[in-house]
Amino acid sequence: ASVNELTDDIPEPHRIQDRREPQAPGLREGFKNTPDTDPDLPGNRAWGRDIAERMQTSQLGIATSENNWVGSAEELDTIMSRGVSAAEEWQSLGANERAAILHRAGDVLESKRADLLEVMGAECGKTIDQGDPEVSEAIDFAHYYAERGRDLEHVDGAQFVPSKLTVVTPPWNFPTAIPAGSTLSALASGSAVVIKPAHQAKRTGAVMVEALWEAGVPRDVLQYVQLGERELGAQFVSHPSVDRLILTGAYDTAKLFRSFRRDLPLLAETSGKNAIIVTPSADYDLAAKDVAYSAFGHAGQKCSAASLVILVGSVATSQRFRNQLLDAVRSLKVGSPWDLQTQVGPVIEPAQGKLLRGLTTLGEGESWVIKPKQLDELGKVWSPGIREGVKRGSEYHMTEYFGPILGIMTAPSLEEAVNFVNDIEYGLTSGLHSLDRDEVAYWLSTVEAGNLYINRGITGAIVQRQPFGGWKKSAIGAGTKAGGPNYLIGMGTWLDSPVST
Ligand code: SER
Repeated sequence: ASVNELTDDIPEPHRIQDRREPQAPGLREGFKNTPDTDPDLPGNRAWGRDIAERMQTSQLGIATSENNWVGSAEELDTIMSRGVSAAEEWQSLGANERAAILHRAGDVLESKRADLLEVMGAECGKTIDQGDPEVSEAIDFAHYYAERGRDLEHVDGAQFVPSKLTVVTPPWNFPTAIPAGSTLSALASGSAVVIKPAHQAKRTGAVMVEALWEAGVPRDVLQYVQLGERELGAQFVSHPSVDRLILTGAYDTAKLFRSFRRDLPLLAETSGKNAIIVTPSADYDLAAKDVAYSAFGHAGQKCSAASLVILVGSVATSQRFRNQLLDAVRSLKVGSPWDLQTQVGPVIEPAQGKLLRGLTTLGEGESWVIKPKQLDELGKVWSPGIREGVKRGSEYHMTEYFGPILGIMTAPSLEEAVNFVNDIEYGLTSGLHSLDRDEVAYWLSTVEAGNLYINRGITGAIVQRQPFGGWKKSAIGAGTKAGGPNYLIGMGTWLDSPVST
C-alpha cells in the first residue's frame, strides 16, 4: 500500500516520538520529559492536516480573551484584591493538593495539544513542527514544577513563605510554553496569579489558562486579563497588591517595569544576541544544519535564536562549509503555517523599524550571501537572509533583530571568536561546533552566556535537562533558571524555622 492509503487506515494519531536520550543518572526520579509528535508516522500526517485546516477559521480562545478586558483602575483594584484573597485559599490547600492539580494541568494540556497548535498557528503564525515541542515543554513545566513546589516544604531549618500575588507578562514568541511555565511555577510555589498574555498571543494564552482552570485551578487563583487602556499597563505591573512580577521580553521593557516600582521583586528573562562558533575541527555537516535551524526556526523569532555564526580560521574559506550552509538555508520552505511543508513561517507583524532595517540594509563592509526577499504584500513573510563581512562592534554585531537573518563573522582564532561573543551586552544562549576537547574546555571557561550548547542547535531547551536563563543583560532579577531545580526558591521569602528536637 502507498503511504496515502495507509494514512486512511489509521484513525487514531500515533503521536509519540521519543528521540530524546534516556534519563541520565542524577536526574530527578519520577520525572520524564513529554515526547513530541512524530510527524513521520502516517496517522500523524492526517492529524496535522486536520489542525492546519482548522487554523484558517479557528475561533479558539476568543471568548476568554474578549470577556476579560480591564477598562479602569477600579477594575484592576478589584482583580488584584480578588487574587490576594484567593491566595489564602490556594495556600491552605497545601503543597500536595496543589501538586495534584498541577499534574492534572499537565494532562489537560496534553489533551489540548491539537487545540493549542491550532490557535498558535491561527494567531501567531506558528507552524505545527515549531509549536509541538512547545506544548511538550508546557506539559513538562506542569509536572516538573508540581514536584518542585512540594520540595519547598522539606527544607531543613528554613520555612518558605510564598508570595500572595504574582503578575505574569509573557511574550508572543512562545505563546504556550512561556505563559504556562511562568504561571505554573508561581502556582506551584503557592502564589495566586494574574496573567496578561501579549496582545498578539491573547487567544493562545486564553486556551492555556482555560486548560489550567479545567484541571482545577480556581478562577480567582488564576485570573486572565487584557488591558483596555494602554495607560493601565504601568499600574498593572506596579500595583501595590502585587508582590512578584515574572516577565519575559525585551531588556528595555524590564527596565521600564522596574522603574515603575523598584521594590517589586522581578524575575525577568530578557533579550539575546546569540552566536554559534564553528572551528576547523567541527563536523561541518552537523554545524551547517544546526546553524540553519537555530537561525531560522520560527523565522528567527526566538530569544535563543542564532543571529551570528563566527567562523574560525580555515572554516571562513572552506567551500564545503559554505555550500552546506547555503544549501541548507536555500532549501528551507518559506510560507504559511497551514502548509505542513513550511519550515519558516511569517514574522508576527509586518516588518518595520529595526527588523526591516536588518532585512533590507547592510552595514559598512557587509554583503548579502543570500538576500532576504519579501514574499507577501503585508511584509510578514520573508525568505531567510545571510550577510557576511559583519565587523566587530558594528550595528549588526550588537543588535537583536528577532527575524530571519543571520550574519557571518570571521575570526583568526577561537580566542578572538569568544571575544566577539563576549563583546555583546547580552548573554542568553551560545553555541560551539568543535570536536576538539581543548577547544571545548577553553570555550566553556570563557564564554559569557546562560545556556551553552556544544555540537547541537542553540534553541529548544528541555525542562530539567537544560534549565533556561540568561546572563548579563539577558536576565534581571533572582538569576535562577526556568525549568531547573532552583526556579521556585526565588518565589517567596525564607524564614529561619525553629529546629525541632
Ligand atoms: N526556551 C526557549 C528555547 O530554548 C527560548 O525561550 O529556545
